[in-house]
Amino acid sequence: MKPAEKKCALILEPTPENIQKAAQFLKQGGIVAMPTETVYGLAGNAFDPSALSKIFLTKERPTFDPLIVHVAMENHTLADLMREQLVAPNDLSDMAVKRIDNLIRKFWPGPLTLVLPRGKMVPDLATSGMETVAIRAPKHPVARALIRELGLPVCAPSANRFGRISPTSAADVMEELGERIDLILDGGPCEIGLESTILQITEDGEAILLRPGVISRAAIEETIDARVEDPQEGSEVGSSVLAPGRLTSHYSPKKTLQLLRSSIAQMMTPPTLQFLQGEKKDASPKKAGLLIMSGNANEAAETLSEILEMPVIAESLSEKGDWVEAAQNLFKKLRALDASEADFLLVEPVPQAVQENSGIAYAVADRLMRAASRKH
Ligand code: TXA
Ligand code: MG
Repeated sequence: MKPAEKKCALILEPTPENIQKAAQFLKQGGIVAMPTETVYGLAGNAFDPSALSKIFLTKERPTFDPLIVHVAMENHTLADLMREQLVAPNDLSDMAVKRIDNLIRKFWPGPLTLVLPRGKMVPDLATSGMETVAIRAPKHPVARALIRELGLPVCAPSANRFGRISPTSAADVMEELGERIDLILDGGPCEIGLESTILQITEDGEAILLRPGVISRAAIEETIDARVEDPQEGSEVGSSVLAPGRLTSHYSPKKTLQLLRSSIAQMMTPPTLQFLQGEKKDASPKKAGLLIMSGNANEAAETLSEILEMPVIAESLSEKGDWVEAAQNLFKKLRALDASEADFLLVEPVPQAVQENSGIAYAVADRLMRAASRKH
């Protein structure tokens, strides 16, 4: 018997005609993968609950994990979000309004998602029934053109299967969801490569960093002239209700991934391979994969190969140690190592001092910590 024919998504160049075609598909309740400046998103009409159900089904995403509403207005203002009833009009203090206005003026369109009191137009499915909604205005011209052609906001989670590595190219989306969706708009590789910073502004104006990204805490604090709280530090706000997607393991490769305690150069003793403890201790891996943050991949591979006494395939996020480049490369290189012959993956840590000085390095460390937290 012949196996059932698998469908395969069409990859479309983002010409005006193709953007129109994709918008038409969205109008009919379809879902489309689109490029953004951060990662590729899987877009559906934000006001169409059946399109939102398709997004959850396609990603195998649990419906308790809410979506980000993406908007593309000519000029973004909080007043417009309220008029469109995306944000509740009466729930915000003067302080909150001032801070949100400042953030929108400074960072939109761009990689900052704001979590705000939810307006009446936002369906329950988009917010998982919560009283807040996440809203972002992407900067990518193709995402903007698609949303404007549709004439409505779209919900767009990263276009990967739930828990997996976010896609930063059309080919990555094809690998993740090619058999499940119809259209991928190809906008080339993503400029940033990491998902947006997510910031909640509460009714009284308190700012809480729910997901680090390239827009750093320091840049936000400067803009609102106030401290930004971190749910990881505060016991009360660390609850999974605030950031449902935050505490689960994410960005996982298929292979076991372990964070090293020190860089390869500073490694004194061979690392304990955690996944070889317990039941799996008889497994005998033959090849290691290594991700380093900076420097030369071949040299690091050679050093680790001597320490582990096995061949090592290595990738470097940025030879010259540039964190913007490292962020761009993170998901791409993780994907490459996952597809390589390596039996397991080891990742160099992001030094603490670097994390404290660079918002991007902090965001990279956050993603790596989550990638390592999946139980195999
Ligand atoms: O850069 C991005 O933000 C990308 C691109 C495609 O725009 N999108 C993205 O979406 O990363 P997603 O669904 O993969 O991640 C959204 C995160 C989830 O962890 C979700 O839990 C959180 O946002 N979120 C959504 N609504 C929320 C809300 N009301 N309160 C707290 N967290 C929320
Ligand atoms: Mg995601």
